[in-house]
Amino acid sequence: MKNLALSKTHRLIEPGPVLWVTTFHKGRANIMTIGFHMMVQHDPPLIGCIIGPWDHSYEALRKTRECVLAVPGVDLAKKVVDIGNCSGADIDKFEAFGLTPVPAKKVAAPLIDECLANVECKVVDTSMVNKYGLFILEAVRTTLNPARKEQRTFHHKGDGTFTVDGLTLNLQERMTKWKQFQD
Ligand SMILES: Cc1cc2nc3c(=O)[nH]c(=O)nc-3n(C[C@H](O)[C@H](O)[C@H](O)COP(=O)(O)O)c2cc1C
Repeated sequence: MKNLALSKTHRLIEPGPVLWVTTFHKGRANIMTIGFHMMVQHDPPLIGCIIGPWDHSYEALRKTRECVLAVPGVDLAKKVVDIGNCSGADIDKFEAFGLTPVPAKKVAAPLIDECLANVECKVVDTSMVNKYGLFILEAVRTTLNPARKEQRTFHHKGDGTFTVDGLTLNLQERMTKWKQFQD
């Protein structure tokens, strides 16, 4: 794992890859899958995530106000779907799916070793949770895992089908108003 500047966290999230959310509550770590999320602010990085009361993770997030957003590569696609189709109330998903929890530095929820990136987050605004299940998270530490051979993320089309990251289109020369977001 290597550190990524917090100011660059949005580059991982903005294209909208399917994510895993880990939580740690009552002595147990859990994982769920989400497709509904968005960047809200650059600095500090704020991310909005929809997590519904039907998810076991919902109570954990409400009570602990901490989680990790883990970015899986497409090699993990089947596990991503399966993890989004079972409940942490019934099983230990880390064990059942052979994923490796790694201690985070700033939150109690674990990183997932097999993921491309892990974003440690604190819940900073719950004002729209009752209405929309919308949690506003602040990214407090982001790490990358460049050792993973498969670096392509994938994106839920909302119906159990997915698109996989493909070609990169470099239009940075036209981004005259937004140079601060380029390396
Ligand atoms: C591809 C995919 C995307 C999903 N997106 C969301 C989402 O954005 N928000 C949500 O609350 N649940 C979403 N789910 C459903 C949860 O992952 C699912 O309810 C899961 O079982 C919750 O796990 P838990 O009960 O252990 O928390 C998604 C599931 C899949 C397969």
